[in-house]
Amino acid sequence: MSVWTVLLAAGSGTRLAEASGGVKKQFLRLGGKPLYWRSLSTFARCPDIAGVMVVFPPADLDAARKALAGLLAAHDPGVAVLTTAGGVRRQDSVQNGLAALPSDCRFVLVHDAARPFVDPALVGRVITALREGHEAVIPVLPVTDTIKEVREETVLATFDRSRLAAVQTPQGFDAALLRQAFAHAGEEFTVTDDASLVEHLGRPVHTVPGHPDNRKITNPEDLALLEDATPSPVP
Ligand code: CTP
Ligand code: MG
Repeated sequence: MSVWTVLLAAGSGTRLAEASGGVKKQFLRLGGKPLYWRSLSTFARCPDIAGVMVVFPPADLDAARKALAGLLAAHDPGVAVLTTAGGVRRQDSVQNGLAALPSDCRFVLVHDAARPFVDPALVGRVITALREGHEAVIPVLPVTDTIKEVREETVLATFDRSRLAAVQTPQGFDAALLRQAFAHAGEEFTVTDDASLVEHLGRPVHTVPGHPDNRKITNPEDLALLEDATPSPVP
């Protein structure tokens, strides 16, 4: 029952582009290595992980593969590491990663490389829930801000915060179910997380506690998180 991670590093980092001098966030330096390496090495340290499929932007694929080969030669992560090219939307990159996984992959964890501070305990919670029989598992945190629906500067609705959760990655799936969910959703359905596809299929999604440090580097102010970061331990 092999578990693979699809590590999404194929975005263009538009919201950060100006602040990062045009460098896509997954390639920013963190502890002397590309940012995506931090979460790659965390997944590699988790005992259940058989391999990591890193998804790179098509235009950067050759250069990124070369750089990764150098890192792997210097720091053997002890698991299989494969690469493939991403797509236009995040979900296209997920689909490409899924398509390139070995056929014996039973469970897949989909993780944003832009969340470098994921910890092994969180990964373990997701994998444990999968092994307990949940087909789709997502890490969540309570929402601390009040969330309102706003259109053109006017509030339309206020949601009951006690019923809301903020969703993180890695999101874990039975690989066959996630493939089925993609097929069912079709090309037109655009989502911001993979569990939405499973929900669309009408199948249950289980939650486990996320971690406040598992933040996504998204906007210029998030760059401060990288400056404060301690150097990554060599895997
Ligand atoms: N991602 C991807 N392929 C895409 C789009 C996003 O692999 N076509 C990845 C990003 O590299 C990131 C994660 O999905 O690790 C979460 O996406 P997001 O934070 O939106 O990153 P970007 O799309 O790169 O940033 P932006 O939306 O600001 O352009
Ligand atoms: Mg994006």
